[in-house]
Amino acid sequence: MISELTIEQIKSRLDIVDVVGDFVKLKKRGTSYLGLCPFHNEKTPSFTVSPAKEIYKCFGCGKSGNAISFLMEHEKYSYAEALKWLAGRYNIEVEETEVSPATRALQQTADSLYIINNFAQHYFSDLLLRSEEGQDIGLSYLKERGFDVSVIEKFQIGYCSSQRDAFAKAALAAQYNAEYLQKTGLVVMRDEQLVDNYRGRIIFPIHNQTGKIMGFGARIIGKNDRAPKYINTPENEIYIKSKILYGSYFARQAIDKADECLLVEGYTDVISLHQAGIENVVASGGTSLTPDQLRLIKKYTHNLTIIYDGDAAGVKAALRGLDLALEEGLEVKLVLLPDSEDPDSYVHKTGREAFRQFIADNKKDIVLFQLEVSLKDAGNDSGKKAAVVNRIAETISKLNKAEDFTKQQDYIRQCAGLLKIDEAGLNNLVNKHIRERVLKQENKMASEDIRSAAEHEVPEAAVGVEDGIALLNKDELIERNMVRALIEFGGYVWDEKRKVADYVFDEFETNDLYELIDDKQMLWLIETYRSWMKEGKEPTPQLFLYHPDMQLSAIAVGLMDTRYELSLNWKDHYDGPLLTREDRYKEEVSSTLIYLKLRKIKRLIEENQRDLEHTKSPEEQLTLMQTHLHFKQLEKALTTEYETVIFKM
Ligand code: GTP
Ligand code: MN
Repeated sequence: MISELTIEQIKSRLDIVDVVGDFVKLKKRGTSYLGLCPFHNEKTPSFTVSPAKEIYKCFGCGKSGNAISFLMEHEKYSYAEALKWLAGRYNIEVEETEVSPATRALQQTADSLYIINNFAQHYFSDLLLRSEEGQDIGLSYLKERGFDVSVIEKFQIGYCSSQRDAFAKAALAAQYNAEYLQKTGLVVMRDEQLVDNYRGRIIFPIHNQTGKIMGFGARIIGKNDRAPKYINTPENEIYIKSKILYGSYFARQAIDKADECLLVEGYTDVISLHQAGIENVVASGGTSLTPDQLRLIKKYTHNLTIIYDGDAAGVKAALRGLDLALEEGLEVKLVLLPDSEDPDSYVHKTGREAFRQFIADNKKDIVLFQLEVSLKDAGNDSGKKAAVVNRIAETISKLNKAEDFTKQQDYIRQCAGLLKIDEAGLNNLVNKHIRERVLKQENKMASEDIRSAAEHEVPEAAVGVEDGIALLNKDELIERNMVRALIEFGGYVWDEKRKVADYVFDEFETNDLYELIDDKQMLWLIETYRSWMKEGKEPTPQLFLYHPDMQLSAIAVGLMDTRYELSLNWKDHYDGPLLTREDRYKEEVSSTLIYLKLRKIKRLIEENQRDLEHTKSPEEQLTLMQTHLHFKQLEKALTTEYETVIFKM
């Protein structure tokens, strides 16, 4: 668990415009920011971020929340992951409470591995650039391949000596722990001695998003059929192969700027393209893309261009992650290089401009490409062709967001043409795949719903869709307004002795108003507020917005983002400058409370009326009549008071 103190630090530092701005292009519009909603596809922006309220809200699809729930929704993070991401974003050290010994051990190991890798990188770079062996063997090899010293330094490339244990000795002399050294894969135990694992190889450090070194790729110099070309760090606490995109640390800004990510296979491809001034490039390491890698790319852009060798293996590798990429909403293009060229060799041959031109001229839509390839494979075999049709229908069905609908229709038309089949038939097949998947998802969601409904009411109103608000009746609006005023203005001054919250709760107690709140969600917020006051905490709006119970925070967000106002007739009466809700918080609090009291009186009168109808005793009738009169007077007084307040507003 992340400590309360850390969470406080994060909340006090975080800026929702910053956070959302990392994923959505925002433009300032008055006091808030506007952008294209990342949760549904749209052409005109209806996604707003309010720095003052610390919330976002889409008036198109209704999604709303705070910075943390944005990360949870957009990045599919857990609450803790979102906090950790924010801590990283703002350089806040995460203090963990009650971490299990296992977690603590894991963190300590990870820290140690980073430290060793950092030491190793400096050691290997130094050797490459400054030792005789490094210069003669390593540097001359790299120069022969056309790498400049500046790019070698940028990517922190190094060299491991061909001696048996030069690095191992240096690391042990620097007091690094033998067990951790082996975990990094830099050294291995031979005959009870630590020896270097990457002897005589070029060392490519692999950086994480923040530039820390997770591991290495070590390339043999020249050709050797008996040894693998590359040796990589074994999986350990920090080197998790499925999450690694080589070069992403150096490419991030360029990808953002170009709004396109180029994907290549090898380390040297990335480095050569950088040298040529093409920096929006990452490498997959020759395997098909994993969901984690796709998510990483999607943080920066939706446009992925795969650049692979034209050989069969390259094509297969490019196609393997296709469905996944489409599902993630990425727009995937493919460029196949001329036979036996890779981006590294090709960019050296052609230079930057010709390379760019080649990419631009040869970009193919990957869905159509897949179809072409598999049609070629199928030949005249009708069974195989049927399988191809089914496969392409499934692929197209993965384009399943509203915004992709036109694209989907385009694909259906083009593919039907290529396949020489009926368009409507293919359309049906695509729909069948969509239905099957939706059904599966619904089943999954239904079981989740039942679970959450058992915990709380589903916070439907908290979604804050305007339509939903319009359906609320006046009583419901008043309750919401009342609670909103409490949360927003609770800490403001009421009179010499009391804050607004004290006054509200005094009124609630003396008039027994709790029973009047019909909306369970509002009652939940009120109770939460009261319990915080009892604990001596100050219940700020932030405390609600960032409540770890996401349901409660969603309700609070829904309350804060509503556009409706209780009574706006003050506008007609008031000639001066427009007053904000803030300026007239006392009136707002008074009027909502009076309204609640009026409701109470109304109910009491009704109850009294019923009793009157049922009683036969004249004495009782008389008492009830007197009570009725008393209530009526109270009602009249309250109405007058209410009107005064409203009029003043
Ligand atoms: P050069 O041949 O020096 O240009 O390297 P490259 O990066 O172009 O290598 P290649 O295109 O052959 O392979 C692409 C990527 O696959 C490499 O960058 C490595 O990540 C990975 N790879 C290639 N060969 C091996 C190997 O023998 N072992 C491991 N573990 N990975 C390899
Ligand atoms: Mn290569």
